[in-house]
Amino acid sequence: MTLWEGRLAGIPASALWDFTVSVADRRLLRDDIDGSIAHVGMLGKVGVLSREDAAAIIEGLQAIAQEARAHEFIFLETDEDVHSAVERRLIELVGPVGGMLHTGRSRNDQVALDLILYMRRGVAGHAKGLARLALVLVDAASGLGPDMVVPSYTHLQQAQPTLLSHHLLAYAHMLARERWRFLDLSTRLDSSPLGAGASAGSSLPLAPQESADLLGMSGAFANSLEAVGSRDRATEYVWCCARALVTLSRLGEDLILWATREFGWITLADEFATGSSALPQKKNPDIAELARGKAAGAIGGLTAMMALEKGLPMSYNRDLQEDKEHLFRVDDDLAGACSALAGLLATARFHPPPPASETAALDLAEALVGRGVPFRQAHRATGGIAARLAAEGRGFSSLGVGDLIDAHPSFKPSDLELLDPVVSVKRRATPGGGSPESVASQIADLREALSDVAL
Ligand code: ARG
Repeated sequence: MTLWEGRLAGIPASALWDFTVSVADRRLLRDDIDGSIAHVGMLGKVGVLSREDAAAIIEGLQAIAQEARAHEFIFLETDEDVHSAVERRLIELVGPVGGMLHTGRSRNDQVALDLILYMRRGVAGHAKGLARLALVLVDAASGLGPDMVVPSYTHLQQAQPTLLSHHLLAYAHMLARERWRFLDLSTRLDSSPLGAGASAGSSLPLAPQESADLLGMSGAFANSLEAVGSRDRATEYVWCCARALVTLSRLGEDLILWATREFGWITLADEFATGSSALPQKKNPDIAELARGKAAGAIGGLTAMMALEKGLPMSYNRDLQEDKEHLFRVDDDLAGACSALAGLLATARFHPPPPASETAALDLAEALVGRGVPFRQAHRATGGIAARLAAEGRGFSSLGVGDLIDAHPSFKPSDLELLDPVVSVKRRATPGGGSPESVASQIADLREALSDVAL
């Protein structure tokens, strides 16, 4: 039995059924029921349904919600999608009055609403997951202390001494922004499409604002065509997920490098590492690799979402059914990556070797600048030291007072202290730089910004 059996003769071809049936949308069960309860509440309020009929249907829907919560709701092969499954079950439970559920509604406004309700829940979950991960980074940073100096990198070449905590906090700030993107999106998920009908509204006296109120949303659609035909907010949701996974892939890449013998910056806890089936000695950072790898699928999902909507004639088209698989996949990948990386980071031990003393070259040049030497001259003099030492096969750590004075008369013997990375980092007190003061204030600011998250 299909929802459209009055129009089309016979039973659908199995090739049609198998190809068109929607299975992914079962995940919207809870949202579909919530939307239906609000819809029927509105129909009862405006008098399209009698109060008794509305109450009977709502009671049936609540029983279905209970089945869903208990994981006892059963989908049948003959259910075309989640919407028809709920309507079928409702009629089983409450009888023919259940056939009034779809009054003044289409699956087009219904699915648009379901997706928005789902995304509202998803936004809250991701905002929390991202904040938790950011706070794990903040906690790790605050536990490292002001002496754990590492090189910063540009071009993957050692650049300047900085604190490892500063490096971890770079990701915490980026994650706080990823979270903010979700929160910003939530302001666009506050309008209900219910009442748009199939495409152009209804001749029944529907009250879309009433169902929006019942759903705790502040408004209803202003144009029924776009209410059922647009998926820009779903695309934006996938973009927020993909965007966050891109940041997590960079964090993953750093963790992968840090866990190598060559870097030797971190040791992962055994329970957050994997072994090899073949190589007995291996301890692999698979969580970090998959965080990096999942970003590829997310970028693909985002591309698919944009391609899906591109060129669609207004308003609803069945192509839009495809949105759910992409959205659910990135949704799961982001949630999984956040929680796995949080576990990995909370249990890792950090023990980086100090940076090469060459990374203090800019500090030497700036010592000259402080004595009135133009930066370009100071750069040339310090670059000359680097070139000479490299030609002689020596490192900056072997630098003597004579080398300095030969390079520029304004150098002083005390400048050799700048080669100590801990000294170098402490002197670099510019706001937002890598000094202990900057790190302390970043930690305080991030804790404040993320303080609304109950952990
Ligand atoms: N499964 C459909 C979707 O996800 C629901 C809407 C179906 N509408 C229709 N007119 N066939 O988009």
